[in-house]
Amino acid sequence: MIYFDYRFMEVASPIIEHEAYQEMRNIKHHDESVFDHSLKVAYYSYKFAYKHELDWESTIRGALLHDFFLYKFKKSLSFRLITDSINHAMSHPLIALENSKKYFNLNEKEENIIKGHMFPFGIPKTKEAWIVSYVDKYIAVFEYASNFKKMAYKKQAVYNVE
Ligand SMILES: [Fe+2]
Ligand SMILES: [Fe+2]
Repeated sequence: MIYFDYRFMEVASPIIEHEAYQEMRNIKHHDESVFDHSLKVAYYSYKFAYKHELDWESTIRGALLHDFFLYKFKKSLSFRLITDSINHAMSHPLIALENSKKYFNLNEKEENIIKGHMFPFGIPKTKEAWIVSYVDKYIAVFEYASNFKKMAYKKQAVYNVE
């Protein structure tokens, strides 16, 4: 569906096809790759921005790059999980912004979409940035739920074998 939307793809392709961006296919995030997650966030944010006659082009570019942090966040199963998660929540938008600037020219709105997407750790300053922040959280809930379901099935399968 996403790949058949020519309006979306015209803006998204130069980023999606970039070699550095393709690296995100190998980085797992919630239930899938960061690449798939970012594409989904960008597509649904764009649909909303376009419908409400907002700057949908900046929405696509900013959303595609919002998690362009290029490392796997490892969750430790200790008391450090909470502090690690908070650190990651605060730092990855800035790392994503730095990486994005290395490869792409961003306008101010796109920069704020990336920096502000982890509200309340960042502050969205435009409607477009609020949309991306909201869509990102909305999609993450489904991805976490799907991941949880898969893990539960796996556990059940192990018990059934034993
Ligand atoms: Fe993020
Ligand atoms: Fe995200």
